[in-house]
Amino acid sequence: MPADTHVEVRDLRLAYGTKEVIHGISFDIRRNEIFGVIGPAQSAKTSLLRCLNRTIEFSPEARVSGSIHVDGEDVRQVKDLYGLRRKIGMVAPLPVGLPISIYDNVAFAPRCAGLTRKGDLDDLVEQCLRQAALWDEVKDRLNSLGTKLSGGQQQRLTIARALSHQPEILCLDEFSIAIDPVTTMRIEDVLKELRKDMTIILVTNLTQQARRLTDRTMFLWNGEIIELDRNAVIFGDQPGDKRTYDYVMGIFG
Ligand SMILES: Nc1ncnc2c1ncn2[C@@H]1O[C@H](COP(=O)(O)OP(=O)(O)O)[C@@H](O)[C@H]1O
Ligand SMILES: [Mg+2]
Repeated sequence: MPADTHVEVRDLRLAYGTKEVIHGISFDIRRNEIFGVIGPAQSAKTSLLRCLNRTIEFSPEARVSGSIHVDGEDVRQVKDLYGLRRKIGMVAPLPVGLPISIYDNVAFAPRCAGLTRKGDLDDLVEQCLRQAALWDEVKDRLNSLGTKLSGGQQQRLTIARALSHQPEILCLDEFSIAIDPVTTMRIEDVLKELRKDMTIILVTNLTQQARRLTDRTMFLWNGEIIELDRNAVIFGDQPGDKRTYDYVMGIFG
């Protein structure tokens, strides 16, 4: 496996019961790239993310075959599942605010992991809120409820919480569907900064967002890879597959 390969997926298949939704796909994700996954609804984008950190196991009818290696380690053999899920952070389409203070939202996971010294926690909370571009707006009210923030602020709080695990890989699943364009652009700027420190998997049904942000993009359609290439190719005049061109141009999808 090349040194810059962070995630290696080989012949991945996923079925819910008897319905196969990922049909044997193979691809690599490189370290510190922003890797885009685009495709219409029901293409299995979310299911793919759930295979990576094994939250797919919350669906008892799910059947996975093939292999996924992260840092060369087979995720299906991983004993420390919580460790795996810390390593691969997930941000869902809608903000998931815990009904506790802003501070505690971010401090929750590190406390569970054994970080208890107040000074260390304070530093980590500040760092994560800064990375999520939320610090300046909340630094004077860290003790107020996270759920009282606006939708866009709550989504940034969700990102801060994902960062509190200090993940190596940050997955964002259509993070901007419920937030305004100004906040979306702020978070896009955050992601450009974060890629220095981690690998980012950006699932989006907004092709323009993938065009703005990603290094390489995979076009997934009905659980199959139509095309995976550099941005300039996927969003250029002549991608390798006509369906990519049609989808990116908004002719279908
Ligand atoms: N828990 C589940 N049980 C059964 N089918 C599911 C489940 N989750 C998703 N699916 C099906 O898998 C397919 C892919 O869904 P999903 O991964 O959510 O796609 P996307 O994120 O691209 O919209 C869809 O046909 C969907 O109905
Ligand atoms: Mg989805």
